[in-house]
Amino acid sequence: MKIVVLKSSGNTHGSSNLLADAFIRGAKESGHTITEIDVYKANVKPCTGCVACGYEGTCVQRDDMTSIRQSILDSDMIVFVTPLYYYGFSAQIKTVIDRFCAFNASLTGKQMKSVLISAAWNADSWTFEALETHYKTLVRYLHFNDCGSILGYGCGTVGMTESSEYPQLAYKLGKTI
Ligand SMILES: Cc1cc2nc3c(=O)[nH]c(=O)nc-3n(C[C@H](O)[C@H](O)[C@H](O)COP(=O)(O)O)c2cc1C
Repeated sequence: MKIVVLKSSGNTHGSSNLLADAFIRGAKESGHTITEIDVYKANVKPCTGCVACGYEGTCVQRDDMTSIRQSILDSDMIVFVTPLYYYGFSAQIKTVIDRFCAFNASLTGKQMKSVLISAAWNADSWTFEALETHYKTLVRYLHFNDCGSILGYGCGTVGMTESSEYPQLAYKLGKTI
């Protein structure tokens, strides 16, 4: 299976990417092909809402979303990787999600598999409620097939994340998807 992994933290060697890397290691060991994209470093401008694309067409903006779009449409699974920012996705990955507008029909028609990976400082039971609800709503709307989530509660620093159970859980998820 072809898997595109969208990382989105400004901390290249931070907690969410650490969990993503464990997932990738497992997935590679199981023979999957991985395309990693660090959307934090990509030049992706926010959707202007002009809808010149008609929800399926060429976007008027010329930036890295052209190649990201192609990578997503070439893949069977999309992995959203985000630090928890004010209980939601990072702005960088939300910007990419908003740009789905220009290939909404293609994306919906593909019925892709998907995974969510996140890291948060908090460990309260409700820490990921809003992010999970948003992710599950995207899955429903875009006709994705949810293959699981790694939600790192109490993963506020790399040290906290490394000493948690989550890297191993991420590895196992990658290995078994
Ligand atoms: C702007 C900002 C907003 C944050 N918002 C939350 C939050 O709402 N809840 C939480 O538990 N942690 C929050 N955190 C902490 C990060 O989610 C946490 O440190 C995470 O491990 C960072 O992941 P990274 O190392 O991949 O960047 C926030 C951190 C920043 C910088």
